[in-house]
Amino acid sequence: MKKRILTGDRPTGRLHLGHYVGSLKNRVALQDEYECYFLVADLHTLTTQPQKEYVDALRENIHEMVLDYLAVGIDPEKSTIYLQSAIPAVYELNLFFEMLVTLPRVARLPSVKEMARAANMTDEAIPFGLIGYPVLQSADILMPRAHVVPVGKDNEAHVEVTREIARRFNHYYGDVFPIPKPLIGDVPSLVGTDGQAKMSKSLGNAVFLSDDKKTVQRKVRGMYTDPKRIRADIPGTVEGNPVFAYHDAFNPDVDEVGDLKARYRKGRVGDVEVKDKLACALNEFLAPIRERRAHFAAQSGYVEQVIYEGTLKTQALANETLSAVKKAMGFTGIWNRISRKARDRMKKREKT
Ligand code: TRP
Repeated sequence: MKKRILTGDRPTGRLHLGHYVGSLKNRVALQDEYECYFLVADLHTLTTQPQKEYVDALRENIHEMVLDYLAVGIDPEKSTIYLQSAIPAVYELNLFFEMLVTLPRVARLPSVKEMARAANMTDEAIPFGLIGYPVLQSADILMPRAHVVPVGKDNEAHVEVTREIARRFNHYYGDVFPIPKPLIGDVPSLVGTDGQAKMSKSLGNAVFLSDDKKTVQRKVRGMYTDPKRIRADIPGTVEGNPVFAYHDAFNPDVDEVGDLKARYRKGRVGDVEVKDKLACALNEFLAPIRERRAHFAAQSGYVEQVIYEGTLKTQALANETLSAVKKAMGFTGIWNRISRKARDRMKKREKT
């Protein structure tokens, strides 16, 4: 039996290079070795954006995100892509798991505070559900009884919460869940083009997987580099320089990267050359992704069919886990006994 992977993303827009190195790359690489489930985490968007206008925007965002999945090489013949909100069993698991973690444990997570800050929320305005974000994520992960969770560094703490919930569940009710492990990408957190913060759609510092050639060139030309280097003959710093971070992550020509670094350190190369070579490497990396994206985008209804079939399959699996959970907890027994006694009495009364 293959081990299982679960991971996914909130459908808030198109995916970018940070998503790729953080998690997508691992997903594509592990599709054969593992039974993979990739969720479109639309319920999680409600934690910061519950308003109708955002819910209305989901339709388009889901479509674009799943196109990105297919474009990077997630293959629906091998992996299951599903819609979180169409799996009611996850809502039920979420409730059980809420009882297995303390409020301070989740409320103090930097990721939760970070999401509140990004959504311009004061502490007073944080919805109950945003504090519950990691618990709902635990329900996602434990629903298929996943063993491995490929995520970026920013999600590692949520997998840790999941591990604690799984352990506590197993301790109280018996072994139902494997304890899942996070799998962090080889670039755990990719810096944005501004060099100031991790790449993020909302910060305007992202290079999207669907950006065209010109857009990539423009974004790379505008990238932050070593600010001390006002002339090409001033020695520069490679470490922590986002231009070189991207070279390391996306330029397969290690000799070229080594040469550029050496000359940069000595003040023997201009920023324009370093950036042009980066734009070239990125465009080469993105070319097949763009091609596959266009191919799938042209097939009306295909993306929807992938989500539909994946979701039906996942519903069955989710119901199996929910049954196992209710049985282990004793709720199945409680309900069965009530049903049996009620039916017995109803039958007897029919006779008399
Ligand atoms: N928290 C993830 C994000 O930052 C989305 C997500 C929801 C997720 N449920 C998950 C990731 C389960 C991995 C596993 O977008």
